[in-house]
Amino acid sequence: MANQRLNQQSTILSGIQPSGNLHIGNYLGAVKQWVDLQAYYHVFIMIADLHAITVPQEPKELRVRTLALANLLLACGIDPEHSTLFLQSHVPAHAELGWIFNTMTPLGELERMTQFKEKSDAKGAYAGLLNYPTLQAADILLYQPNAVPVGDDQLQHLELTRELARRFNNRFGETFVVPKPLIMQSAGRIMGLDDPTKKMSKSAESQSSYIAILDTPDEIRKKIKNAVTDSGKEIEYNPSAKPAIANLIAIMSAFSGSSEQEVAEKHNGKGYAEFKSDLAELIVKKLAPIQETYRKLAENPDATLKILKQGAKNARETANETLNSAKEKMGFVL
Ligand code: TYM
Repeated sequence: MANQRLNQQSTILSGIQPSGNLHIGNYLGAVKQWVDLQAYYHVFIMIADLHAITVPQEPKELRVRTLALANLLLACGIDPEHSTLFLQSHVPAHAELGWIFNTMTPLGELERMTQFKEKSDAKGAYAGLLNYPTLQAADILLYQPNAVPVGDDQLQHLELTRELARRFNNRFGETFVVPKPLIMQSAGRIMGLDDPTKKMSKSAESQSSYIAILDTPDEIRKKIKNAVTDSGKEIEYNPSAKPAIANLIAIMSAFSGSSEQEVAEKHNGKGYAEFKSDLAELIVKKLAPIQETYRKLAENPDATLKILKQGAKNARETANETLNSAKEKMGFVL
């Protein structure tokens, strides 16, 4: 288990954008880890609404999605008694430390980031998109976490975060903990159901490429049935030779807790159709309680807002302490 490298006092932080649909890639690669880790460590979970606006957002939709995501995270098992769940925009220290990091990051380091290159289109890009990674570094370093559980698409941002922590510490004296990424071995990159060479993504053009946490049982069965497979008919875990089946095995492994090899052995001699049907039923069964809790939470938005407000209060305390220590070392008059 990924958390063996941590000790009991470790702090964990991660974040997620309130954009599009939460899908099983987000859940298995990130959210499920957060839920598992909160039994042992203090976990800060941040909804990255300031990051969301680096691409244009419809105000009404942003609000609805932000609150829906908070409910989904709670329904997945984030427990406000053990974790601090908050909105990034409720803690001004993020933007302030992000600004400080902007002044310490050469332009070339930001222009090289894969996400910036992918998301800037022919018309160019806004400065917010360029500065996305320095804000993410601030999100993380304000809480002095030892580990950041994420999917492997966040590795490049984590590398820059670690570099900024070291750069600041070297220049102004020991201030920030240099955090480690925590990435699940096979669930760290769940691939699209329609194309196993692309990661499952909420911004995918085709909805059949991902399974959303709130998909109905019939939608789930249909999407798994239509998922692309590889040639041959053996159920074997071989990501390079059989990437599509390996992806489905990885999904079954992450939902069931069995290893990829155990999943493959259990389905040895069965055809793709039977394996897919078992997988669809497993996903339906695992998502049902999450969906039911989500519906109950959605009936009481005030309760969710209260959790977010309390979370922000706790988060501000830690964040302001770190920010002030950094500013003092830099020579700001406090
Ligand atoms: P976001 O909102 O795109 O994704 C949230 C988390 O889900 C993981 N993930 C996946 N894991 C496995 N397979 C997939 N197909 C898959 N798709 C997404 C992501 O790796 C992520 O862990 N920049 C971040 C948000 C952020 C953040 C932070 C994260 C802002 N500040 C500070 C950590 C720490 C993002 O856009 O994640």
